[in-house]
Amino acid sequence: MKLLLIGSGGREHALAWKFSRENSVSELICAPGNAGIARKVRCIPVDISKPADVLDLAVNEAADFTVIGPELPLANGVADLFAEVDRPLFGPLQAAARLESSKVFAKEFMERHQIPTARFCICENEGSALKAIEGKYFGFPVVIKVDGLAAGKGVTVATDRKVAEQAVHAAMTDRRFGEAGMRLVIEECLVGEEASFFAVCDGYRAIALPSAQDHKRAFDGDEGPNTGGMGAFAPSPLISNEMSSQVMSEIIQPVLKGLSSESNSYRGILYVGLMLTSDGPKVIEFNVRFGDPEAQVLLPMIKTELAPVLLDAARGNLKTEELIVSSNPHVGVVMASGGYPGLYK
Ligand code: AMP
Ligand code: GLY
Repeated sequence: MKLLLIGSGGREHALAWKFSRENSVSELICAPGNAGIARKVRCIPVDISKPADVLDLAVNEAADFTVIGPELPLANGVADLFAEVDRPLFGPLQAAARLESSKVFAKEFMERHQIPTARFCICENEGSALKAIEGKYFGFPVVIKVDGLAAGKGVTVATDRKVAEQAVHAAMTDRRFGEAGMRLVIEECLVGEEASFFAVCDGYRAIALPSAQDHKRAFDGDEGPNTGGMGAFAPSPLISNEMSSQVMSEIIQPVLKGLSSESNSYRGILYVGLMLTSDGPKVIEFNVRFGDPEAQVLLPMIKTELAPVLLDAARGNLKTEELIVSSNPHVGVVMASGGYPGLYK
């Protein structure tokens, strides 16, 4: 197959590395790609935020299959546009991508389907948000999340009331996150260890991929500001076979069932940020794509050809045999410009 890969990060470089080793992929192209990917793969400029541009490219290049790396094109409805013209694409429809693009949607969905997550309330104005952080509902620390996509900067774990008020004020009065911050999820702070869980889904069936953990803080010794991840390792020692089965039956399967019962459907990678609490695994967040930098350690572990598995999932026809996965641990380190995650050259 001729495969078009969309995105420009380390995650897409890892996907390109994997696909370029697979017999089922006769030609690989990437848009827009990056300098590293371009050393091996033809890269073509495109504005990935515009679904029509991505479709034009797939048509002009006669791509048999399009794989979407990041969340933005999915949140903008690229999968819907491809579905209208019956072109195979890997990634969920816009309505299902709301699991990542709207935290309000994700929390209300989990509540409707009894999927374990932190207790929460939704606030549509500053008055109700200030009331919610008073302390009697959730105590401190309390977690404040902006509803929409905020490039990993929309969550505040507030240790006291002053920090919580500042977070509410920044989102709702200063509109630091624009429209994304006009609604807030305020929730209890969960205690436990965090791990990332990934499954390939075809709407009804799911296959678990290796679990991973990323290092969030910018500096050595787990210090400094939160980032998208300064490195990752896989598999997570926290996710035993038993835990993996529990996450599949208590979280992944209920998400697929819940969405299909609401005339929605999930085809793509479902990435669950988990907190392993004393009450069992709970969902911190959903993402509708591979993690970055988790993909960089996870993809080299998968020995099975991935492109045919993703194509089966995109067609709603996943074969549920297990993937062949390396048992060797994998570790990845991110090199970032000075200043990251703030402004940098
Ligand atoms: P997110 O941007 O949703 O990935 O959240 C960033 C980080 O905030 C997570 O990786 C957790 O460390 C932390 N976090 C989010 N929600 C909670 C919660 N309810 N309890 C404790 N920590 C949380
Ligand atoms: N590494 C976290 C993410 O991809 O969202």
